[in-house]
Amino acid sequence: MAEIKIQSVTKQFGDVKAVDNFVATVGDGEFVSILGPSGCGKTTMLRMVAGFEKPTAGEIYIGDKLVSSPAKGIFVPPEKRSIGMVFQSYAVWPHMTVFENVGYPLKIKGLPKHEIADRTNKALELVHLGGLAQRLPSQLSGGQQQRVALARALVAEPDLLLLDEPLSNLDAKLRESMRFEIKELQKKLGVTVIYVTHDQAEAMAMSDRIIVMNAGVIHQIGNPAEVYETPADKTIADFIGLVNFLRAEAGEGGVTIPALGRTVPAPAGLAAGQAVAAVRPEHIALAAPGQGLTGTVVHKSYLGDAVDWRIEIGGEELRVIAPAAAFNEYGPGGQIGLEVDKVMIFPA
Ligand SMILES: Nc1ncnc2c1ncn2[C@@H]1O[C@H](COP(=O)(O)OP(=O)(O)O)[C@@H](O)[C@H]1O
Ligand SMILES: [Mg+2]
Repeated sequence: MAEIKIQSVTKQFGDVKAVDNFVATVGDGEFVSILGPSGCGKTTMLRMVAGFEKPTAGEIYIGDKLVSSPAKGIFVPPEKRSIGMVFQSYAVWPHMTVFENVGYPLKIKGLPKHEIADRTNKALELVHLGGLAQRLPSQLSGGQQQRVALARALVAEPDLLLLDEPLSNLDAKLRESMRFEIKELQKKLGVTVIYVTHDQAEAMAMSDRIIVMNAGVIHQIGNPAEVYETPADKTIADFIGLVNFLRAEAGEGGVTIPALGRTVPAPAGLAAGQAVAAVRPEHIALAAPGQGLTGTVVHKSYLGDAVDWRIEIGGEELRVIAPAAAFNEYGPGGQIGLEVDKVMIFPA
């Protein structure tokens, strides 16, 4: 197993700085996600760790071994890095059976036949494909094909497993169960994982820590609760989970939020003037009219387990997710009470 150190790594493609001064350490046996919108540099960063791409600047260590350093002229090729990798597209070979696909990395290492068979069967058991070894990929579902790719990435017992949006081609239900499976597998094997995704729910559910990226730059590194509850900036608050933004004004006595008729303490370093207040829908409770703040219902959508409300208050709109049965009698145009607890403040 291995600790990964990424030190000030930058990757330039012509005019595009795909990754800009990326600094992070992934602990031995840790599950770390790189999360960010499409095009923010996640794949490029992962490919540099794998050795499919050379950094323009910076250094990458896998364990104690320096594997990439343009300044020192060091570059270790992917096959010498002890990594397993799974891509978004299943990338299994269509003409090979499941067994042949998974055993391939061992075959090119020149291991004896019986050892290849033992280890391949073990990897197939790990991903619950024991009975399907002789099938061709075309005879498998998408989820099963992705398990083949996972088994192939694990068969050589790599120190580091790199996963690039491995679940994005699967349907929603399967995606959720595979999250759980991958996490269980990682815990069982103790392998270090770097997991790339644009899906915040996926990153939250699986990761020990999340590296949040935008436009090539790291915005925050923290565990799921930290990035959700104390996002470093407005962009992250918006990207991770649902959030309402309201106008606010920072002054001598604190930050005033006109729509909520409330003044809260200013966070350290906030300049006077325009600011933004952010409220998660779960921090707003509905109440009978006359209780708490008064808003006007704009719209309600029934979601089955909950109702998604849009409520106008002080010229701004709040989104509130409330239990389905509550406040059934209130509808568009009517007044309703609101109780807001936690508010986050960011620079405008
Ligand atoms: N081989 C390449 N040549 C030129 N530009 C590239 C190449 N690979 C990626 N890019 C650019 O780098 C940026 C980051 O891409 P990528 O790492 O694929 O993002 P993500 O995986 O977060 O969607 C994008 O602007 C993309 O167009
Ligand atoms: Mg990508």
